[in-house]
Amino acid sequence: MTAYDGFLFDAYGTLFRLELPNEQLDALTDGRANVLMDIWRSRQLQYTWLRSLMQRHVDFEQITLEALHFAMDFLQIRNEAVPQLLMPIYLRANCFDEVPKVLDSLKQLGKKTAILSNGTPRMLQAGVANAGLQDKIDHLFSVEQVGIFKPDPRVYQMAIDQLQVEPARILFVSSNAWDVAGASSAGLSVAWVNRNGHPPERLPANVTYEARDLKDLLEKMKLGHP
Ligand code: LAC
Repeated sequence: MTAYDGFLFDAYGTLFRLELPNEQLDALTDGRANVLMDIWRSRQLQYTWLRSLMQRHVDFEQITLEALHFAMDFLQIRNEAVPQLLMPIYLRANCFDEVPKVLDSLKQLGKKTAILSNGTPRMLQAGVANAGLQDKIDHLFSVEQVGIFKPDPRVYQMAIDQLQVEPARILFVSSNAWDVAGASSAGLSVAWVNRNGHPPERLPANVTYEARDLKDLLEKMKLGHP
């Protein structure tokens, strides 16, 4: 049997898949949807790290909007229809195809399941409801409970403290290699769901499992074939 009683999942890119309105966005931006999305996403993450270092926390919804405004300024796009189109995608997040069955399998095995995310409680609740995962996730942990973003070790420690599972029996699961490194550095066992076939980051991490998706992870853990 597996050594883990609690499974702690990252949200975006791990459980949740954002539905991107590419055609509408291209129409609003003269065909610059891809470059806008790239700048938006990279600034969104950078702002979480920079604000954490600066000790000037604001929540992930504000970071996300400010990063989008930077990306629009950079590309000289001045159209408020763009944030109106893009901001709701976080509230309408869906999940990757294998997620419901994998979570069902874990619940059938008596495992505890939780999300630990940079997202605000509002974003996470909306995503879980939209993806129909309410009965499959036991706890939603948001960095807002700590007031600093991943990969600050206090974020992972907050989830360890609240999950009520012995820390050595918790597996943290993320598709983001930097998040995996952060959780590993904070003392958790980690699985990297390398959905995009990326090389590992050059960051300290002790990765127990690497898998293509969550179904592959359960197979590698010999937890059945969801
Ligand atoms: C999260 C981002 C990092 O959900 O995916 O925390």
